Amino acid sequence: MQQSHSAATSVGYFQDRVALVTGGASGIGRAVTDKLVGLGARVGVWDINAERLAECRTAHGDRVMTAVVNVAERKAVDAAMEALVANFGGVDHLLNNAGIIGTRMTAEDMNELELDRVLSVNLKSAFYVSSAFIRAPSAREDRSVVNLSSIAARTGGMVGNIAYATTKGAIASFTVALAKELAPKARVNALAPGVINTEIQQDVFADPANIEAMASVIPLKRLGTAAEVADAAVWLLSGAASYITGVVVDVSGGR
Ligand SMILES: NC(=O)c1ccc[n+]([C@@H]2O[C@H](COP(=O)([O-])OP(=O)(O)OC[C@H]3O[C@@H](n4cnc5c(N)ncnc54)[C@H](O)[C@@H]3O)[C@@H](O)[C@H]2O)c1
Repeated sequence: MQQSHSAATSVGYFQDRVALVTGGASGIGRAVTDKLVGLGARVGVWDINAERLAECRTAHGDRVMTAVVNVAERKAVDAAMEALVANFGGVDHLLNNAGIIGTRMTAEDMNELELDRVLSVNLKSAFYVSSAFIRAPSAREDRSVVNLSSIAARTGGMVGNIAYATTKGAIASFTVALAKELAPKARVNALAPGVINTEIQQDVFADPANIEAMASVIPLKRLGTAAEVADAAVWLLSGAASYITGVVVDVSGGR
């Protein structure tokens, strides 16, 4: 007889659970934080933007534990995880979301320092934070991780974003491999957003002509919102996705 795993919606699921969101002070990470708090979770929010973290804390009070953490630094990650566990008792869910585009450069011109920075923030951080997460206590047998890849993993992204696109391809592979490592104790999936109107590419999005050009090649004819990506993240993190692991889900308007 098979054990029964009833399908659940995310409503009620996150009550009294603890989640960690990296890069949670703005954009997609903040939208996921807002939804998880709304669903009853307590959320650790890590970011390098102290001002935005303070806004998040003002909005959610002690439902969140905000901390200035550079996820590219392993020691900082381990120390912040210790503080999070001391405060909330454990951590059940993880969104590896912190990311940067980096300075636009072709492979031909790539500067070693900048390459290291993009690889560290977008890729090595996922190893550091996932490792700390796995070692942290949790009373749950259904822990879950969602990583932020991108459709740039398969499209190559904009010319000049080769380092970024490379890290997002690697995040897709990392997701599949980590899902095997952690099964059956935890599920691991990734999202591949298309073009989402956040601050990550402020310079590009500031020009309405760019937005129009990008929207014209998206089947749904518009950019996505952080809230739409957050809905997909919350679903994958929740028991409503209990039989899904090791996949990358596009949130891209059909692109
Ligand atoms: N917006 C898009 O079009 C899009 C598309 C595909 C994938 N993504 C991915 O989604 C994730 C979130 O991006 P977003 O669009 O919300 O951008 P965003 O710039 O609004 O948010 C990213 C957050 O990460 C934080 N951050 C940057 N470096 C950090 C570090 N070293 N340590 C801790 N925090 C750090 C930033 O301060 C910021 O708050 C990223 O991984 C990004 O690559 C975004």
